[in-house]
Amino acid sequence: MDPSLDFPLDDAEFLLGDPYPAFRLLRERSPVHWYEKGGFWALTRHADVQYVSRSPRLFRSSRGVLISQIDQMGSGTDDEMPPSIIMMDPPLHNRFRKLVMKVFTPRMVSNLEPRVREIARECLDPILAGETVDFVERVAEPLPMLVIAELLGVPTTDRADFKRWSDAMVDAGGSGVNPDNQANMAELFAYLGQKIEERDRDPRDDLLSALLRAEIDGERLDAREVLMFCMTLLVAGNETTRNLISGGAYELMRAPDQLRKLAGDPSRAAVEQAIEEMLRWVAPVRHFMRAATRDTELRGERIAEGQFVVLYYASANRDETVFGPDPDPERFDIARRPGPHLSFGFGEHMCMGASLARLEACVIFDELLARFPRFELAGDPTWLRSILMNSITTMPVVFAR
Ligand code: HEM
Repeated sequence: MDPSLDFPLDDAEFLLGDPYPAFRLLRERSPVHWYEKGGFWALTRHADVQYVSRSPRLFRSSRGVLISQIDQMGSGTDDEMPPSIIMMDPPLHNRFRKLVMKVFTPRMVSNLEPRVREIARECLDPILAGETVDFVERVAEPLPMLVIAELLGVPTTDRADFKRWSDAMVDAGGSGVNPDNQANMAELFAYLGQKIEERDRDPRDDLLSALLRAEIDGERLDAREVLMFCMTLLVAGNETTRNLISGGAYELMRAPDQLRKLAGDPSRAAVEQAIEEMLRWVAPVRHFMRAATRDTELRGERIAEGQFVVLYYASANRDETVFGPDPDPERFDIARRPGPHLSFGFGEHMCMGASLARLEACVIFDELLARFPRFELAGDPTWLRSILMNSITTMPVVFAR
């Protein structure tokens, strides 16, 4: 083992700095790297992240998917509740995913576009040219949160509560569970539980009712499974999409030539291509994790049963054997031909909300550029101290027509 490669891969300050030179060295010299301090294997090459992601019988999710779960060592789930889809293994995962996919279809997502656009306009309309606003608070945060509220059928009158609950979920994910966010999450649980009961009695044309009715070979999801899936949507679809929108805007402001290029051709195709580059570059979720179900070998390294393997999407997204050489994978370039970035994961657990996240990002940048072809930083952004999320928490921005 080469000690010069022992980077603090589970340290937020390190990841918030510039971890990319370290990732490059690891890809080159130790792509399957035992990180002693963290107690896990770090995988930094695109092909290896893909291989592990599509081998759920050899590398399972049920022991935990986040580095922060390593110390918990259990299944990490509450015995009273079914596990989240993210932490299911086959065959349970296949059955569950098939059922929810019957409802969470690309068609359902594309039908949401008019409403997503309305919400985006509601966020952007009050912003005045020349005014300095916190981009996260006014633009990146409300859209994903309100879209999920819409999906779950939360009426406008309950939106303030919903925001408080969803902030609590984000807070618990970022800084751990405390009595305050726990109380808010319990309220959310009770609220969704009641809504599910209502829809069970009196179905409507919405996601909850459809989830309760979805059926394969006579099998349906029970109320607790639907409740858990709704909580997963909130955790998985909220902060991630926010990070994509704020991180993408930040990169456009850091590279004004790129912003000019996009503002000069804000066609749907150009915006969609730019979003793919934002996804590749920002990697809103830096890692997920698996545990080996038996002894195995990867690139000559022996991975023992039970050992954890961390998939660094952020590194895979800059793998020079997949992206580049021209344009250089270490360059943010919205004209790059979209490549197979791994920001949504890969294989069995690949993100179920990818098309929704893409739609939201596309609509918000489309609406933003139509109003303000120029915008710039009016101060330094701040970042969440997290090893999991690449998350900007505040970003002062001034817009110009
Ligand atoms: C830019 C935004 C997003 C990013 C970067 C992202 C990233 C990811 C990644 C990397 C996974 C794979 C997990 C694994 O392999 O262990 C995943 C799974 C998942 N995502 Fe997303 N996600 C985003 C948005 C969303 C949205 C908007 C929703 C839904 C509203 C969503 C719902 C899910 C669900 C349900 C899964 C679990 C799928 C499974 O386990 O089979 N995500 N996401």
